Amino acid sequence: MAIRGLLRVGEVCVRVFDIDEARRHYGERMGLIETYQGDPDKLYYKVADEHDWYSLVLKKADAPGVEYFAFRTYEDAEIDHFAAALTDYGLAVEHVEAGVYPKSGRRIRFTLPSGHVMHIYADKEKIGNGMPTRNPGTIPDEGYIRGFRCVRLDHVLLGGPDIVKNRDIFTGIFGFTVSEELVTQEDETRLAVFLSCSNKPHDIAFILQPEGSRFHHVSFLLDSVNDLFHAGDLIGKYEIPVDVSVNRHGVTRGATIYFFDPSGNRNEVFTGGYVHYPDTPTLTWDTSQLGKATFSQDNMPRDSFLNVLT
Ligand SMILES: [Fe+2]
Repeated sequence: MAIRGLLRVGEVCVRVFDIDEARRHYGERMGLIETYQGDPDKLYYKVADEHDWYSLVLKKADAPGVEYFAFRTYEDAEIDHFAAALTDYGLAVEHVEAGVYPKSGRRIRFTLPSGHVMHIYADKEKIGNGMPTRNPGTIPDEGYIRGFRCVRLDHVLLGGPDIVKNRDIFTGIFGFTVSEELVTQEDETRLAVFLSCSNKPHDIAFILQPEGSRFHHVSFLLDSVNDLFHAGDLIGKYEIPVDVSVNRHGVTRGATIYFFDPSGNRNEVFTGGYVHYPDTPTLTWDTSQLGKATFSQDNMPRDSFLNVLT
């Protein structure tokens, strides 16, 4: 199937305590590219190989966590199609004019059963990836790819109640497929659902939490395990708090490092994973294999990883 409808997580807005500390972490150390200045209480970043103007927004706030996330859809008419389908499902859908979010076309805004605010938009101005679109070459100028050498913002993992309702909205309305899920061994309760709208093992995932609108992590793609190890070296150099050092997930098979920003929000850098197609069978893990599902190089589940959210 050609990719149409929702294409990717195009934007995530994360709340931070302090703008200067956030800029040091995400800009100077991770090497994300600051692309827009407008509001002194917000930072706007793109990642090296992205073309859109920005994908990560950091907003000064009294508590960390996720403010909203936004999916980019292939064409403008789909915004109205999804608005109608979400309204039929019973969600309140708000229409937002073009320009309210910088460089962005019109959006719809709604709250998922898990409590998360989601946007859908079709247009955002492009700034490019540091290379021309005609005879682009293979690598931008020296200095464009810096820090952790992140390639793009890849996915988010969010926590809340009613994740089965979220799954039904993403599969039934948005056309995602369930790539993997984690269930309890005793009674098959869904603890985590991994959803794909692309060839990736997940574009978004939800984990069951009693409280709504919780944030587990935002993840950035790297090119290689070499780059993952390089990022690990910088995380150590700068004494960035680490949740889980280099390991591999059973779920998605991605090689990973988890660490925290200065406000306590979890970040991930990862590389690898398998190719997912809409007809790939859903892979199910149960809690008898929780260690292998989460961290397959030592098969150890981590309390912090499972229970610390912002
Ligand atoms: Fe992840």
